[in-house]
Amino acid sequence: MASIQDRIVLVTGATSGIGKSIAHAFAEAGARLILAARRGALLEEIAADLRARHQTRVLAIELDVRERDAVFAAVETLPAEWSAIDILVNNAGVPRGLEKLHTGKTEDWDEMIDTNVKGLLYVTRAVLPGMVARNAGHVIMIGSIAGQEAYPMGAVYNASKFAVDAITKSLRMDLVDTPLRVSTVDPGLVETNFSMVRFRGDAERAKKVYDGLEPCTPDDVAEAVLFCATRPPHVSVNQIVMMPTAQASATLVHRTPKA
Ligand SMILES: NC(=O)c1ccc[n+]([C@@H]2O[C@H](COP(=O)([O-])OP(=O)(O)OC[C@H]3O[C@@H](n4cnc5c(N)ncnc54)[C@H](OP(=O)(O)O)[C@@H]3O)[C@@H](O)[C@H]2O)c1
Repeated sequence: MASIQDRIVLVTGATSGIGKSIAHAFAEAGARLILAARRGALLEEIAADLRARHQTRVLAIELDVRERDAVFAAVETLPAEWSAIDILVNNAGVPRGLEKLHTGKTEDWDEMIDTNVKGLLYVTRAVLPGMVARNAGHVIMIGSIAGQEAYPMGAVYNASKFAVDAITKSLRMDLVDTPLRVSTVDPGLVETNFSMVRFRGDAERAKKVYDGLEPCTPDDVAEAVLFCATRPPHVSVNQIVMMPTAQASATLVHRTPKA
């Protein structure tokens, strides 16, 4: 296992779910963290907790990845001791709605494409030149099984995650003549705030997504991300696809009725 002690790791979407777990896992492994998300006050709380628990350095940046100029400015104006980012975890992402395309809301589509695709591209474009110049770095995407197989009523979320898969594969080709690595961790059902965001706070509907099965936890995903980041430099873990044991595909889930 390669050490990530004192490595600078930027995690987007670190206020909740998978991103927050990734922040904890990397802090525990001794990395220095730059955390980004829109809820600045919450981010500061998480940063303080990480510093106290793991005695590691944490920088919190309130950032909306959809704001192109703000993304480039945030990366360009990092304090000198934070500017040499070693690992970028592109985690920020949203699902919005679950409905047939002909009744879908175009504002939901914009939010998903702007966050999951364009936001991820802006952050990557802002961070990558430094990595290339230093001849060192690792970009890790949080994709989804939704980027591997389409499912009914998921067209635009699916499209956004298929785009992440294409960007991941193409980027790896672009960087093949460098020591940089590009990985993607593609989970199935993980219990986070994800379904609450998808169903705009409808807790009952969100809870049903995980009824009758044991979903993956955000910590399960964080462990996979840490695995990618801690391989020796000659090994690239290109992709990890992971699901709950009771899930076999995006559309096949085994649920045990409550006794
Ligand atoms: N949960 C699942 O079943 C599952 C499965 C496969 C893949 N994923 C992927 O995993 C990633 C994390 O999702 P999650 O399940 O952990 O959901 P979550 O609990 O809702 O967390 C999403 C995170 O993304 C941040 N975010 C959203 N829009 C943003 C923006 N415009 N700018 C900056 N940050 C933004 C949120 O922070 P703020 O609101 O503070 O900005 C939050 O920290 C997403 O890419 C998602 O597509 C999830």
